[in-house]
Amino acid sequence: MDLQNFGMTATANRLDPDEIWNIQMTSAAHQEKRGEIGVITIDSPPVNALGINVRRGLDSAFRALRDDPAVKAIVLICAGRTFFAGADISEFGKEPQAPLLGDVFALIENLGKPVIAAIHCTALGGGCELALVCNYRVAVPSARIGLPEVKLGLLPGAGGTQRLPRLIGPELALDLILFGRSIDAAEALRLGVIDKVVSEGALLDEAIAFAAEMVAQGKPLTRVRDREDQIAQSRDHPEIFAAARARAAKTARGFLAPENIIKAVEAAVSLPFDEGMQRERELFVELRDSTQSAAQRYYFFAERKAGKVPGLPTAPADLKIERVGVIGAGTMGGGISMNFLSAGIPVTLLEMSQEALDRGIGVIRRNYENSARRGRISDVEVERCMDLITPSLDMGDLGEVDVVIEAVFERMDVKQDIFAKLDKIAKPHAILATNTSFLNVDEIAAATSRPESVLGLHFFSPANVMRLLEVVRAARTSESVLAASMALSSRIGKVAVVSGVCDGFIANRIMTPRREQAEAVILEGTTPQDVDKALYDFGFTMGPFATMDLVGLDVIDRSEPYRTVKADLLKAGRRGQKSGAGYYDYDESRRPSPSELVAKIIAEVAAERGIVQHPPLNQEELVCRLLYPVVNEGARILQEGIAQRASDIDVACILGYGWPVYTGGPMFWADSIGLAQIVTGLRAMAERFGSQFEPAELLVRKSEAGDRLTD
Ligand code: CAA
Repeated sequence: MDLQNFGMTATANRLDPDEIWNIQMTSAAHQEKRGEIGVITIDSPPVNALGINVRRGLDSAFRALRDDPAVKAIVLICAGRTFFAGADISEFGKEPQAPLLGDVFALIENLGKPVIAAIHCTALGGGCELALVCNYRVAVPSARIGLPEVKLGLLPGAGGTQRLPRLIGPELALDLILFGRSIDAAEALRLGVIDKVVSEGALLDEAIAFAAEMVAQGKPLTRVRDREDQIAQSRDHPEIFAAARARAAKTARGFLAPENIIKAVEAAVSLPFDEGMQRERELFVELRDSTQSAAQRYYFFAERKAGKVPGLPTAPADLKIERVGVIGAGTMGGGISMNFLSAGIPVTLLEMSQEALDRGIGVIRRNYENSARRGRISDVEVERCMDLITPSLDMGDLGEVDVVIEAVFERMDVKQDIFAKLDKIAKPHAILATNTSFLNVDEIAAATSRPESVLGLHFFSPANVMRLLEVVRAARTSESVLAASMALSSRIGKVAVVSGVCDGFIANRIMTPRREQAEAVILEGTTPQDVDKALYDFGFTMGPFATMDLVGLDVIDRSEPYRTVKADLLKAGRRGQKSGAGYYDYDESRRPSPSELVAKIIAEVAAERGIVQHPPLNQEELVCRLLYPVVNEGARILQEGIAQRASDIDVACILGYGWPVYTGGPMFWADSIGLAQIVTGLRAMAERFGSQFEPAELLVRKSEAGDRLTD
């Protein structure tokens, strides 16, 4: 029996409801009766998103139970891994299909019988909003509840901005909605978001018992929309919203959604419920139709797609990873080790000298202790992680591990020597990985007799914090080694992006033109501060010169065959923030200011190299000059097959280089401004500055065909 028929027939009362109960339905909704309590179970893998099938299922099931006089209360529960994970994000931008979420919610809210949401795992976005239209909410202790729409460039558009403030007050509601913070069941109970925490593993039974209790008490039905107490006391307190705006300006610069969220919550406080809902709708639609939200929704799926390699078998059992070896206890090796320790995987940490080993382990301990001081982990967890380290000065100890990650300095002869030794020591099935950021992984693999076991695992610094991991598939890396490495990456919470072998792999290679152009334009008459400001205004946290000053000019290992500004700055002792001067002068609080000396050095270098001076480029010109070549490099990476898909390049840039997520990354950004414009811009630059700007063949082809890079 199909759900539509079931719903329609039951609504029209053409079938005896007893004939219908307990029929396993083929759609997303299943319903049954437990005495006086009706139970609606939604089962729509993977995450019970509120797509059209689920909405139809809810609509039919609630109508049927509403119309059955024997049913006195209804429990709404989800099968599978989670309570509703929100609206179906893939439906945004498509023609809406009835019943709409608002219609279903109105049906539930006005049902006239108590409805109890029984929550496990997560109630997110529209899922949380659905729980808020129910009369009561119960949850197991492990459940989490939240409104994360801001991360998709949206606001909760199904009443969340109107109902949550009525439950917990606008200040707390803003705290949750503006930052997409989810709360656990205990906090939800304390705040009044849920009514009861029930036992893990007994959700349905205890929810039914709770429903029966509500029926027995026979109290008048309460609806969140009718609550006034929490918002009444916040009227005439504009400082609540001023504080939220100040916080959002600091933490979410450039994002549109926070301001609309604040306006919607203001409406909850100042307008009657239905007018507030109307205002929420307008503000939601504005965001839903914005390029920012399209970019952030694209990014949501891009991140999940990145870990998938079409046709790759699952990791074989003999590549089970129980212990990891890391060579080098420096900044990278230490950070890499922490990923595994935090995930409960023991690490053998190898160094050349006891002193280097002690120093590296000391830094790891300090990092964990700092996390404990900030309340992120407990003291017990610090010790648990530290106990998982086996320090070693003997390479032979790596014979015990399942994966070795080499993180020593970037010299091919040193790495080849290490891999030749590893070849003799490592287990037959061990994965041999290098953390090199630009050396040729094929050449490193060639130093072994088992190149199929070798690949790159390129972590970004700080390796314990940055979520990106480039998994570098060398020419002879086996599928099983790749599969095991991808699985390992998700075990340690990284977003893996597969890259082929090339200079700089994906993220460093694609962003190189931005640095090169930044260095070029300052020699043509634009100042470093103008360049940095243009990229800051575009949405990067910092421009390239401020970044170099932060990292340290002496750390950036790059020498050129001609006189450069950077080399002159180093000669003048200007190593960046740590020496009080670099591309900028710094005061004691490390506040930067433009430097006359730097301006003089730039003028001298430009004169010596015979570089023609131009009027300074404006913001728009700088964005074209610095970022169109990035798009071009991305297109080359794609056409060479270095990246599997355009969205992987975007993920690498967003997570590896802080490219603003609200533009979707360079590939999505190029699509949103139009490939024809990029091609025209690049051709103009090629005419002026040389053939390195010639648009990539793929870019031209897609532009002429009216295609997108990210299709
Ligand atoms: N819509 C469509 N697909 C979704 C989805 C959603 N809301 N949430 C997750 N999925 C998909 C994922 O794309 C993924 O698909 P593939 O297997 O094909 O890659 C699959 O479900 C599993 O997702 P995860 O890999 O993320 O699984 P997880 O177990 O790591 O995390 C989760 C589960 C915590 C629910 C996480 O998926 C998540 O955070 N989802 C999004 C929640 C969200 O943002 N909800 C708000 C939606 S907007 C809204 O609701 C607006 C409104 O006001 C009505």
